[in-house]
Amino acid sequence: MVPASAALAKESILTPRFYTTDFEAMAAMDLQPNGAELEAICEEFRKDYNRHHFVRDQSFEGAAEKLDPDTRKVFVEFLEQSCTSEFSGFLLYKELSRRIKNRNPLLAECFAHMARDEARHAGFLNKAMGDFGLQLDLGFLTATKAYTYFQPKFIFYATYLSEKIGYWRYIAIYRHLQQNPDSKIFPIFNFFENWCQDENRHGDFFDALMKAQPATVRGFQAKLWCRFFLLAVFATMYVRDVARKDFYEALGLDAREYDKYVIAKTNETSARVFPVVLNVDHPRFYERLERIVQHNHALDAADQANALLPLKVVTKLPHWLGNVWEMGRLFFTAPIASNQFQPAIR
Ligand SMILES: [Fe+2]
Ligand SMILES: [Fe+2]
Repeated sequence: MVPASAALAKESILTPRFYTTDFEAMAAMDLQPNGAELEAICEEFRKDYNRHHFVRDQSFEGAAEKLDPDTRKVFVEFLEQSCTSEFSGFLLYKELSRRIKNRNPLLAECFAHMARDEARHAGFLNKAMGDFGLQLDLGFLTATKAYTYFQPKFIFYATYLSEKIGYWRYIAIYRHLQQNPDSKIFPIFNFFENWCQDENRHGDFFDALMKAQPATVRGFQAKLWCRFFLLAVFATMYVRDVARKDFYEALGLDAREYDKYVIAKTNETSARVFPVVLNVDHPRFYERLERIVQHNHALDAADQANALLPLKVVTKLPHWLGNVWEMGRLFFTAPIASNQFQPAIR
């Protein structure tokens, strides 16, 4: 077995984050304003619909050997990235559940169920990596990863979005491969339909939790933060996926078209709980994201160039500033008030 941890140790803004938060504030949270809905969601979690879903079948036998070297490389990267994201969700939910167990039992139970789901997802991905002779050293990751501290409300925005975007990403791939079975390069995609329902339920949980803490989604500050998180999540995904467009090509997907679909759907979904969402149909929206893609391309090229550090900084500076400028312009583009948002299909 070759540990993949070394490759993952190279962190960047685009690698999945490991989070920690104010456990005291979480424990003290009053759920009463939306207690009935949270109880109903917890009851769904208890049913554990996917208890018997993640069982590897014969279709995995020999599947890894069928991939050509290029596809294999991008697919393994996809597995690594996904496994790390799922695992980071597991760690956060597990820790939350453990720390608030005695003082906020309902919330703790919900987090425990979600940790169960994420552990299952991460484990299933890790087994698929095993088919390629790789294994993520999850213990090593836990011990060496830097944890980013977020206030509870920021955890809500970030995890809500990552669950909902995860749902749309998985379901979009699943539906595409149903239409195009020849592009199903690995049997793991057969599991995506039920899998994404887990992510959808997790997202609904955070939706209900934010409604139990209405201050998180009301008022001027909340509007600014929701815009910020929507933009950060969308821009990060777009830049990363365009850089990895070979993976999407292997599935018969165009990375840009795929991302535009996922962004539109996630934005639309977010309008159910966020006070504002982004105007992703603005004619300049993707134009600006494309400029960020180009700046990042130039930054990567500068990193790889054989130059002295001061020269590198000089080369990179305009691209850093360019990214700040484009993100600023995107951030200050007028958002859409959620109560006025009228997507074609709801
Ligand atoms: Fe998951
Ligand atoms: Fe999840």
